[in-house]
Amino acid sequence: MHLPKAELHLHIEGTLEPELAFALAARNGVDLPYADTEELRTAYLFDDLQSFLDLYYALMAVLRTEEDFAELADAYLARAAAQGVRHAEIFFDPQAHTDRGVPIGTVIEGLGRALDRSEETHGISTQLIMCFLRDKSAESALETLEAAKPYLHRISAVGLDSAEVGHPPAKFREVYAAATALGLRKVAHAGEEGPPEYIREALDVLGVERIDHGLRCMEDAELVDRLVSERIPLTLCPLSNVRLRAIDVLEQHPLRSMMDAGLLCTVNSDDPAYFGGYVGDTFHAVHEALGLDQEQLRTLARNSFEAAFLDHDEERRARYLSEVEAYAFD
Ligand code: HPA
Ligand code: ZN
Repeated sequence: MHLPKAELHLHIEGTLEPELAFALAARNGVDLPYADTEELRTAYLFDDLQSFLDLYYALMAVLRTEEDFAELADAYLARAAAQGVRHAEIFFDPQAHTDRGVPIGTVIEGLGRALDRSEETHGISTQLIMCFLRDKSAESALETLEAAKPYLHRISAVGLDSAEVGHPPAKFREVYAAATALGLRKVAHAGEEGPPEYIREALDVLGVERIDHGLRCMEDAELVDRLVSERIPLTLCPLSNVRLRAIDVLEQHPLRSMMDAGLLCTVNSDDPAYFGGYVGDTFHAVHEALGLDQEQLRTLARNSFEAAFLDHDEERRARYLSEVEAYAFD
């Protein structure tokens, strides 16, 4: 679906398509435990977040050089452009690479190479959001922020991802305070598999401005009221929720009731190479499965630009919003 939109919840490592994984494996002499792309795709049946993360981290072994990261990002941007994305705020997981001996500079400069030419090549403005892996220690997160200091001009925000349950936001109080002092914006995954309390904690302890997922807020009416009145954006990922079995089928996704409740919902792809679709496909899927009409889809697109970190460039936000209003569905 070509409706103009911003993508605000996208893990660049989750855009690694099987074909690129095998090409990079061959180039870098990395052995993958799958015969071919077809066999690899058979591994894409997940029971929960952890079963996905195991494969997600394993496949990253093929990413080694700046050029690899540049190719990965460029391939995503090309696909996103073809689905109407005009602005992308892209997550990356530095610890998943530094733990394998790939320097953080290789990751950031490689991604940066693709992002620098994105507006010209793909018509997409971009930002980078550096995520901490919450199943690693708070010290490791602090070391990562320290290691990123030479590259802060390329990073607009910090985030928190990986295995949620048992790793509450408060564990990362210190590193989020340090990120704030450095002028970075803040988001965090919360309420994907974890309880509503983690959403509250991300707001109150970490001071995040957007909640990634936030699906489970619906179990807590008081929290919903707060998210509505404070206009906290939620970056929902409906196809991810189905594939990771947070919900059984897309028809049961609460997106429609969340919008009806007044929540500032956005729709995103999370890890599109793994979850069966890029963000335009996701818009199409919620249209089909939940019967969202064209005006509701337009609202989701409008929300995505409202929730974007474009405060330094309101002119651009206004331009994107006018593209949403002008869009004619076919
Ligand atoms: N949740 C948490 N961590 C992640 C995800 C996700 O959906 N995708 C990549 N890392
Ligand atoms: Zn995510």
